[in-house]
Amino acid sequence: MADDCQTEGTAPVTGDKPEDENAIDWWSILSDRDFLENPYPELRRLQALGPVHFDERNGIYFILGHKAFARVSKSSEMGRDTRNWAGGWNSDDYRQYDPVGFKLFSEFQPQMINSDGEEHKRMRKVYEPAFRAQAMTSMAPLIEQQAARLLDAMPEEGEVDFIEAFAGPLPLRVLCELFDIPESLDETIGRWSASLIRIGDILMTPDQKQEALDALSEFKDFLREQIQSREGRQEDNLMGLAIQANRDGTLNEEETLTNLVSMLVAGHETTVTLIGNGMLLLLRHPEELARLRNDSGLIRTAIEEFLRMEPGGNMILRVAREDFEVEGTVIPKGAPVIGLIGAINRDPARFERADDLDLARPANAQFTFGGGAHFCIGAPLARLEAQIAFASVLERFPHIELAGEPEWRLDRMNARGLGHLPLRVRTAA
Ligand code: HEM
Repeated sequence: MADDCQTEGTAPVTGDKPEDENAIDWWSILSDRDFLENPYPELRRLQALGPVHFDERNGIYFILGHKAFARVSKSSEMGRDTRNWAGGWNSDDYRQYDPVGFKLFSEFQPQMINSDGEEHKRMRKVYEPAFRAQAMTSMAPLIEQQAARLLDAMPEEGEVDFIEAFAGPLPLRVLCELFDIPESLDETIGRWSASLIRIGDILMTPDQKQEALDALSEFKDFLREQIQSREGRQEDNLMGLAIQANRDGTLNEEETLTNLVSMLVAGHETTVTLIGNGMLLLLRHPEELARLRNDSGLIRTAIEEFLRMEPGGNMILRVAREDFEVEGTVIPKGAPVIGLIGAINRDPARFERADDLDLARPANAQFTFGGGAHFCIGAPLARLEAQIAFASVLERFPHIELAGEPEWRLDRMNARGLGHLPLRVRTAA
């Protein structure tokens, strides 16, 4: 989600210790252009050095092993409340070093992803009914309808940018439907979402932080008005659940608004990325594409394999609530821990032929949706949307091929998604 890994949020380390010249320079590696284009060879090299690493320069623990991350992500000693990050954004030093960043993180704080224990449970419980199986069954026709509409607008034969024409607009429209927001506002919501998804990314510039603060404030004002205009209505959609929880005191106003904003941001770009990255995987593996075309029953395992191979989100954050031992390393209370999902999902100790795409891969324990108490609440919706998206596209176009070089977006460290995916499509085989 927007903030599923808040990697930014520490004041620069002034450093009174001499630096180990063999130490891994994590931020340089993780933000390097070549790494962002294709992180997997470098991640494999780092993983071979061990499953848990301490980055002394920034005080961060990096997890690259599947077994280690399974423990870290699911343990109650490892939380997600970034206020507990010793020396993080909530410290006096950080407040002085970056007042705009501090304001941004503070205003984005009151939501379920940034809370632990009972506080987290109280918030999460409000939204859970919107993602249960029954709710998903009733969402399916709407997603199918939106997918068909986007496909109808594409040429029967010709070139299209798949991100612009399909993978981009579908998740936004579905989310807005979930919130009962009219289509005329898709562009505005999309703009706010694009600013807010950057929150916490270390590549975020001061201007982008200010832009995100403005977007957050406009978004909250918009939602406040929406809530007021629905006064007296009984709705069982996501917005209705939030309004009810605010009315009965389960959520205060800030929690109501911030969770709603976050939900819209969290469900948007992540799902665009799943559909875009998945399509590129299929086109780069024509034998697997043919396999899926011949056996549509593979769609569920295919989506899990897309999530494993090209996770979209690069990092998942935890903050130690207590001292915590994992694979021989003791992580001290208050320390930030980052799971590098591209490495974890391809750990050869857990996955056979870890770098191969296998659409029928059994027991696919990928970690793209995280784990434990914070496991992505929107995963059922994202999975359903992706299943419908791929089924619809493959049915409509028996012929699909790359029409040029795909372009990865290189302006974010926490996310790996395509900016452009040029395709040549044809409705006739
Ligand atoms: C492919 C699409 C998606 C991906 C890859 C994804 C990924 C994630 C990840 C990694 C987390 C944090 C998990 C952890 O810390 O262990 C998360 C949490 C969350 N996601 Fe998603 N997400 C996706 C779609 C969605 C959708 C569609 C929604 C809602 C409409 C959503 C809403 C949330 C929320 C509210 C949380 C916080 C849950 C909590 O803290 O309890 N996500 N997601």
